[in-house]
Amino acid sequence: MAEVTNVTEYQAIAKEKLPKMVYDYYASGAEDQWTLAENRNAFSRILFRPRILIDVSKIDMTTTVLGFKISMPIMIAPTAMQKMAHPEGEYATARAASAAGTIMTLSSWATSSVEEVASTGPGIRFFQLYVYKDRNVVAQLVRRAERAGFKAIALTVDTPRLGRREADIKNRFTLPPFLTLKNFEGLDLGKMDKADDSGLASYVAGQIDRTLSWKDVKWLQTITSMPILVKGVLTAEDARIAVQNGAAGIIVSNHGARQLDYVPSTIMALEEVVKGAQGRVPVFLDGGVRRGTDVFKALALGASGIFIGRPVVFSLAAEGEAGVRKVLQMLRDEFELTMALSGCRSISEITRNHIVTEWDAPRALPAPRL
Ligand code: FNR
Repeated sequence: MAEVTNVTEYQAIAKEKLPKMVYDYYASGAEDQWTLAENRNAFSRILFRPRILIDVSKIDMTTTVLGFKISMPIMIAPTAMQKMAHPEGEYATARAASAAGTIMTLSSWATSSVEEVASTGPGIRFFQLYVYKDRNVVAQLVRRAERAGFKAIALTVDTPRLGRREADIKNRFTLPPFLTLKNFEGLDLGKMDKADDSGLASYVAGQIDRTLSWKDVKWLQTITSMPILVKGVLTAEDARIAVQNGAAGIIVSNHGARQLDYVPSTIMALEEVVKGAQGRVPVFLDGGVRRGTDVFKALALGASGIFIGRPVVFSLAAEGEAGVRKVLQMLRDEFELTMALSGCRSISEITRNHIVTEWDAPRALPAPRL
């Protein structure tokens, strides 16, 4: 196998290695998958305005997220059911994140429990929460995550129902029988029945609370002292309301283009959300980040950090923990190089003036002398 030199290359390797049902579940977006392509394409509408002759012999990529110091503004998004990709699943991801000095977000629908992931050793971890109809289930799970040392809740707010992922419907996607949604095993909610369409869509319809609203964001704050990140914000309006309702941070996300198709790419929605947040809480982004240049662009548009989703499951499938480590290392190296070539020595030196976007007003250029 030729040497892997960038994050995207893991996708083709994963496709070869994984059963079709699993690969399709990881790779797919909703319906026409317009937003899926757009999450990537939109980054190419942003170009650099690099500054030169700045001493870039030392580059500091460290940053702070909710008070936690991490080695770089590149973190791991929650992706469900990682043991379908590799037998070590979430264990491998947790170890790789911790070795890289960054944050892992564990999915509610992980195939390893919060306690199991905590047992892999020290590391800063967030817990992604899906709110079940049965609030006792939610309260118990949040308490367990807190006790296991998780530092924040990423509350996913874009999934009152599951988006229509046609490959999952065709494949009758369901969790393989040898795996369970480990966090829910003891609560008898750990299995997914086979259905006439997507087994996951049926599971969501049966268990997830469609009534979820801002009052539940308040309620969550009464049952935990962990800060809450609202994951799935795409408008300035909702950014403002999130701040008013006590969110500690906002994640601009379209769920990897798996929920509502024809929402904008996250990189194009980012700036309005940053404006809506008015500097009162940090804003993060996920969706389509595959290059160090993408990370830089997100930070230049006001993000405090980014999360990656699919690159983790694809590299897990290809090489397990070593694959995830390599993904984080490649992104770190590319991001460091982008900083150096742009003339930025620290995260705080990255500004809006280091990029120009297609939606910026045209700059007045001096008229050519004929
Ligand atoms: C996800 N995502 C997700 N989000 C969430 O809140 N809970 C979850 O359990 C999952 N599971 C999940 C599985 C898979 C296979 C994918 C691809 C995505 C969404 C995820 O957290 C994140 O928003 C996107 O993956 C980011 O986009 P990229 O990096 O995959 O392009």
